[in-house]
Amino acid sequence: MTAPKEPMPSPAELPARSVDAIEELAGTHPGQRRAHARGICARGVFTPSGEAARLTGAAHLQREPSEALVRFSGSASDPATKDLLSPAKGMAVQLQRPDAAGVKPVIVAVTASVFVARTPESFLEMMLAARDMAREGVSVKDRLSGLLGRFPHAAEALTILSELKPPASFASVPYHSIHAFYFVDGQGRKQPVKYEWIPDAEEAYLPLLKTAVAGKDYLEEELRERLEKLPAGFTLRAALGEPWDPVDDSTARWPADRPTIDLGHLSITELTDEPAGLLMDPTATGDGIEITPDPILSFRREAYAISQERRMKGI
Ligand code: HEM
Repeated sequence: MTAPKEPMPSPAELPARSVDAIEELAGTHPGQRRAHARGICARGVFTPSGEAARLTGAAHLQREPSEALVRFSGSASDPATKDLLSPAKGMAVQLQRPDAAGVKPVIVAVTASVFVARTPESFLEMMLAARDMAREGVSVKDRLSGLLGRFPHAAEALTILSELKPPASFASVPYHSIHAFYFVDGQGRKQPVKYEWIPDAEEAYLPLLKTAVAGKDYLEEELRERLEKLPAGFTLRAALGEPWDPVDDSTARWPADRPTIDLGHLSITELTDEPAGLLMDPTATGDGIEITPDPILSFRREAYAISQERRMKGI
């Protein structure tokens, strides 16, 4: 039997209700992020190429290197989920070069290139539908087809998520910002961009035989061993959108032939403890970069703050 539809909360209540819905689906894990619960922090240096200087005055994209704090994560909300089983992996980078207002620029990216929802309302509806199917004992496979039937715009993201392979290393896979951002130059001209972190290492996934012996946190162990030998590197690439490319729809991909520029190189040198209260806010762009009118992007700021408040209270 299908559960009766819940009334949509007011815009002010929507972020907290969405975080509640994640908890209703995945459980509450005190003191943990409500998504991407398990992760590992590392530090390194980001050296800009200077290529972006004609498009933005952003200080971290001129010529001077910035120290970087990186958090790699698995997407699951339950920190006990094995690395093999959390579908997407995350790479969140905070550059330690604050702008004039003290904002440290952040780029949050994942191994999927599109998102499942276009609006916060549709995200909440999906969470509730997934929760109801889980409560009714619907299998994970049937939940996926149930969601596909009800949320056709999510088809590409759900297909990508269901086909993602476990990476051989956090440092061997590309990560996408999904959302578009605007580079703003000295004349106020805006260039839409989407970011991608391209690994220096060859793109590599776990061979089938190794999946049988991979430990719960094999990605963390692999990164620790890797960094004891050599730094792990990524190039930060920006695809340059045309004025007609969508900037308000995180379920939509841009054409693959958009020109790109390499913005700089990140060299990750060592693991580090997570600073208390770390919040990787994807809307913290710093001067010279602005957020686009993507409703999911601005909503994330509020949802992440609620998750942070709860985990800092130990609930
Ligand atoms: C409706 C949309 C979304 C919601 C409600 C949501 C929710 C959350 C929450 C609650 C957290 C934990 C925040 C914290 O406690 O610090 C989180 C973390 C994260 N999310 Fe999302 N998310 C959304 C969309 C996305 C998208 C589109 C991406 C793709 C880039 C993404 C990537 C991540 C990553 C990588 C983290 C971990 C950040 C870290 O390491 O601190 N999320 N998300």
